[in-house]
Amino acid sequence: MPSSFAEARVDLGAISENTAALARRAPGAGVMGVVKADGYGHGMLPAARAMLAGGAEWLGTAFIEEALELRGAGISCPVVAWILPPHAPLSAAVAADIDLGVSTPGLVADIRTAAAETGRRARVHLKADTGLNRGGLTAEQWPETVAAAARAEADGLIRVTGVFSHFACADEPGHPSIAAQTSAFHEALEIAGKAGLEPEVRHLANSAATLTLPETHFDLVRPGIASYGLSPIPGLAGTGLRPAMTLRAAVALVKRVPAGSGVSYGHRYTTDRAANLALVPLGYGDGVPRAATNSGPVQVGGRRRTVSGTVCMDQFMVDIGDDTLGADAEAVLFGPGDDGEPTAQDWADVLGTIPYEIVTRISPRVPRVYGAR
Ligand SMILES: Cc1ncc(COP(=O)(O)O)c(C=O)c1O
Repeated sequence: MPSSFAEARVDLGAISENTAALARRAPGAGVMGVVKADGYGHGMLPAARAMLAGGAEWLGTAFIEEALELRGAGISCPVVAWILPPHAPLSAAVAADIDLGVSTPGLVADIRTAAAETGRRARVHLKADTGLNRGGLTAEQWPETVAAAARAEADGLIRVTGVFSHFACADEPGHPSIAAQTSAFHEALEIAGKAGLEPEVRHLANSAATLTLPETHFDLVRPGIASYGLSPIPGLAGTGLRPAMTLRAAVALVKRVPAGSGVSYGHRYTTDRAANLALVPLGYGDGVPRAATNSGPVQVGGRRRTVSGTVCMDQFMVDIGDDTLGADAEAVLFGPGDDGEPTAQDWADVLGTIPYEIVTRISPRVPRVYGAR
């Protein structure tokens, strides 16, 4: 039973074991566990500690604020933050020994200033845009930025600890951009080497590449979704990963309605016979997509069923036919799938999205409870 009206139960042992399994898939590389977006919705600090227990040596965040939260909790391993918008707290990051991902040429100068202000050498990872065309330095910007970074290194203000890039289509095995990006990354490394940079870690592989592209492992792999036990490539066999999050709720009430009853806002579902309806106290205010109206899979009273009618802000209904439920009945929206409950991948399939979005969107209103069920 959920400890309150609902819970997102997170199996931290699964996160540790997934991390260890990913480390085994990349025997020549270290692991950077990616914990941005509140650890993909699992809770950043517990997820981070579970990854470290599983053998991760680095952690990755999108923003400096996330990295500072890790430091504030006493986590001392190397942490990289790679989205640095204007006015990002660079000095605070340098003071806290956070590695900074550099995606624009101007950042080298800004980080020099932060290092001078702080009196500490800043740790920098230069990010090459090898074809994702999102963050990262373009091929045109690369030589000048590498040169500026080498000068700042010679001046004792920064240390280029890393060079990295990110794939566009690693989750589509055989996509031609994979080889093109890998080759562009080698070129970027060569230019950096010629400029005198000797990064400790070169890193390119996300979860999909960690699992399927050993030639991209370099010194460090950066798995996010796979650490949480969800596959970056639907249906990929033999990953041995275990989904860490189970989303469930107590059934709040059951009522009998006659045939022909319209259910929930808009009466988008109508009972075709007299039926028992179960009320599940989770809605779009909790991160259950409203688009799951009449389609979201849910296990109620041990059986697989479907959301009946509109998902509301705090609740949705499920037609359970003539079944009756005990006082302690629960609804499981998704979990590892061991007991026939749907998985986050099932939700993603129904909604035309990816499991990343399903777990990350679960709102803070749903208590995270830690431990295997
Ligand atoms: C730069 C970078 N590296 C690694 C990851 C982890 O990706 P995944 O969750 O697909 O493993 C992300 C996630 O978006 C990312 O932005």
